[in-house]
Amino acid sequence: MPTPTDRVRRAERSRIRVMFDLAERHDGDLVRLEVGEPDFDTPEHVIDAAASAARGGATHYTSNAGLPECRRAISDTLATEYGVEHDPDEIVVTVGGMEALHLAVLATVSPGEELIVPGPTWPNYETQATLADGTFREVPMPAETGFALDADRVIDAMSDDTAAVVLTTPSNPTGRVFDRDECRAVVEAAADHDAYVIADEVYLGLTYDGPAEGIAAYTGGPDHVLTVGSCSKRYAMTGWRLGWLAGDPDVIDEVATVRESTTACASSVAQHAAIAALTGPQEPFAEMYRAFEERRDLVMDRIDAIDGLSAPRPEGAFYAFLDPGIDAPAIDVAKFLLREHGVVLAPGDGFGDTAPGRLRLSFANSVDRLEEGFDRIEAGLAEF
Ligand SMILES: Cc1ncc(COP(=O)(O)O)c(C=O)c1O
Repeated sequence: MPTPTDRVRRAERSRIRVMFDLAERHDGDLVRLEVGEPDFDTPEHVIDAAASAARGGATHYTSNAGLPECRRAISDTLATEYGVEHDPDEIVVTVGGMEALHLAVLATVSPGEELIVPGPTWPNYETQATLADGTFREVPMPAETGFALDADRVIDAMSDDTAAVVLTTPSNPTGRVFDRDECRAVVEAAADHDAYVIADEVYLGLTYDGPAEGIAAYTGGPDHVLTVGSCSKRYAMTGWRLGWLAGDPDVIDEVATVRESTTACASSVAQHAAIAALTGPQEPFAEMYRAFEERRDLVMDRIDAIDGLSAPRPEGAFYAFLDPGIDAPAIDVAKFLLREHGVVLAPGDGFGDTAPGRLRLSFANSVDRLEEGFDRIEAGLAEF
C-alpha cells in the first residue's frame, strides 16, 4: 500500500480547528468567538460587478500573474493606502493571502533552511515551511509587553540558515501593530543575512490607533521585502479567495511561473470583484471599519471589568488575546467554556508555543453577541 510523503504527513492540522469541530457538533445556542473572518457579507456593489463581469464573458483563465486592471488596482491601493510603491508588474494576484504566503515561502526557503516567525504566531506558516522542506522556528515575544515585536530576539535567532522572517502586522492572534523601528531593525538584519522579510499585511486595512503603513513603505521598499495582502478581511471577501504578493519583479516572475502548476491564476470573477472593491465606493468598508473599532472598545471595556482577565489592547485586526489568569491549559478552559457556558474561543496553543495559556477572542461579531459572549465568559471563568 503506497503512503503519502513525509512532507504531506508532517503538516499538522491546525489546533484552532479542534474548537471549531466541537462547536459544529454541539447542540444548542453557542456564541462563536473563535472564527477569524468578518461577520459582514461582501457589499452589493462588489457582487454586482463580479456578476456582470461573469455575464460579460469573464469566465476564462487569466494570465498567471493576474488581470492587468486588477494588478493596477492593487498597485494603486498599496501606494495610496499603505505607502508601498510597486508597479503592476511587481505584483501577482493570488488565491487569497494564503497562496501569496505559500508562494513567498516556496520562493525563499530552500530545503533545510529556516523560516523564523515571532510568536505567538498564526499556525499556517509552519505548514508552509514544512511543505517547502524547510524548518520552522518560532521566536517567543515577551508577554510583559503584550507580545510587541522585540527585534533583538528575532535578530539573535537569525543565522546563516535563516532564509526568511515573517512579520505579521497587525498580528493574528494578538492584534498588535509592530513598532516601525523594531520592524526596520529586522529588515536591516535580514539584509545582512541575505534573508527575506515576508510582510504579512492582510489586516493592515484594519489598523486603529495610527497610520496603516506597510513595512516596505518605511524601509524604502528594499528588494528583500515581500508584501502579502488580501481582500479577505478588509473588504469582507474571505470566500472570494483573492490576495496578492508584491515585491522584487524577479521573485514575482518566478512565482507566477510556479503557480502555473498549482492554481494557474486567481479566479477571473474574483479578480473583477477585487477591482470593484479597491476602486469603487469605499463607504461600505469604512462602515465595517468603524464597527470593528467600536467593538474593539467594547471588548476592552468588558475585559477590564472582569476580575483576573486581561489582554493587550488590540491595535489592529479583530482579535483580543486573553489571559484568563488561570493556571490550566487553555484547551481545557476553552472546552469548559463551550460545554458549560456556550461560548467558543480559540486556545492559545493553536498559535505556537509562546502563550499556551491564552485564549483568542475574535470580535468579528455583533455588539449583542459580544455582550452575550462576555456574560458567558465572565460566568464561566468565575466557575472554572
Ligand atoms: C495572519 C494571516 N495571514 C494570512 C491569512 C490568509 O487569509 P486569506 O487567504 O483569506 O487572504 C490569514 C487568515 O486568517 C491570517 O490570519
